Amino acid sequence: MQIIDIKDAGQYLQQTVKIRGWVRNQRKASSKLRFLIVRDGSGDIQAVAFKPDMEESEFEKVKALTIESSLSICGIPREHPNNPGEFEFVIQQVEILNLAPEYPIGKKAHGPEFLLNQRHLWLRAPRQNAILKIRHTVYYAICEYLNANGFYRFDSPILTPNASEGTTTLFEVPYFDLGSAFLSQSGQLYLEAGIMSLGRVYDFGPVFRAEKSKTRKHLTEFWMMDAEAAFVEHDENLRIQEELIRFVINTVISRNEKELIILERNPEDLRKADAPFQRWTHRQTIDFLRSKGVDIGYLDDFGAPEEELITAESDVPVFIEKWPKEIKSFYMKRDPANPDLVLGADLIAPEGFGEIIGGSQREDDHDLLMNRIIDEGYDLEFYQWFLDLRKFGSVPHSGFGIGLERLIQWMTGVRHIREVIPFPRMINRILP
Ligand code: 4AD
Ligand code: MG
Repeated sequence: MQIIDIKDAGQYLQQTVKIRGWVRNQRKASSKLRFLIVRDGSGDIQAVAFKPDMEESEFEKVKALTIESSLSICGIPREHPNNPGEFEFVIQQVEILNLAPEYPIGKKAHGPEFLLNQRHLWLRAPRQNAILKIRHTVYYAICEYLNANGFYRFDSPILTPNASEGTTTLFEVPYFDLGSAFLSQSGQLYLEAGIMSLGRVYDFGPVFRAEKSKTRKHLTEFWMMDAEAAFVEHDENLRIQEELIRFVINTVISRNEKELIILERNPEDLRKADAPFQRWTHRQTIDFLRSKGVDIGYLDDFGAPEEELITAESDVPVFIEKWPKEIKSFYMKRDPANPDLVLGADLIAPEGFGEIIGGSQREDDHDLLMNRIIDEGYDLEFYQWFLDLRKFGSVPHSGFGIGLERLIQWMTGVRHIREVIPFPRMINRILP
């Protein structure tokens, strides 16, 4: 007998086929009629058991089924009698693979701590399933854009000897006789070596920040896509980022219509962002925030409340560019027009979703970069290889890093980052 995916049921009308999956829900309509909602990952379908049309023993099995039991069912797909365009499945025979005891996640509202403790099961909920599908789309859309635009995938190491984003958020791990290693905060420095071979490269993987922040936007382990390109300068760096993000928006809207509905995310709010992004300098932004009554100085960074104000009146993301060198990473290139500033930009998403990208043109002058490393108090020994890149064929180059979960939060409209990664890692959570 042919085994089909639930999503394809409409292609097998009036044929006897087999589906396999889990019982999302079951309902007794009468002593002779029972409904199951069966899901298999590809989709959900209503399965109907009507006693007069099946063997008594098969109907008894349907009656025994509990929520989240696994099963395989032989039966016939047909048009749903009440919902045009939908299908249901007429049950003939049931094989129970595993009869589940009472499922801990019920219909009543559970608190976040309870659900996070049950994360391994919570992942099956319709909302979580929708988020995971959009995560899949966002991930591949980013890769599709980069692959189509001349970027080669170049994997950077996770165990590293040095910091890229400051030493305060480093996770340290014992490393044999060599002392300590650190979990990567970003593959950027390695990508800068990669472009000298391949021109344009990207990596995509987990990175780690020992962030003390317990906010809706911080994880200790999150996924980053770092991209880096030779001969690309500041303006073009922003253009690439904008094009990529707009490609992701369009891809999510076109591939995840169903999931956006489940998440009650209006695609029009995303579509509005598919227009030229805004560009503000850091200084302009500080002036704007001050005009709104925020007590902030010209050497300050932004927190969540400031990010919300920045995009409060904008449907599109806002680039904040040209930051004071004091508050940005050592590798950013000085602005030739003003050596107190660096050619870095953060991209702030609308609707309060905060910083989704950090990027910059990179310092390509050997001595300037070396002095920045010394000023940071870093051990030059570990950065010698990085400085070599400024000795052997240094070229202007730029790159950026997308926080995958931040971007997914914006696409899905999910307010807390813990829901957009399968197993969130936060300062107070490592289980499950
Ligand atoms: O701004 P960040 O720190 O930039 C870098 O690491 C650069 N080396 C990237 C590059 O130029 N290749 O991090 C990039 C993005 C942030 O904009 C944010 O979206 C996300 O990573 N991010 C976090 N996401 C979740 N939890 C955290 N603790 C995050 N910290 C940064
Ligand atoms: Mg940043």
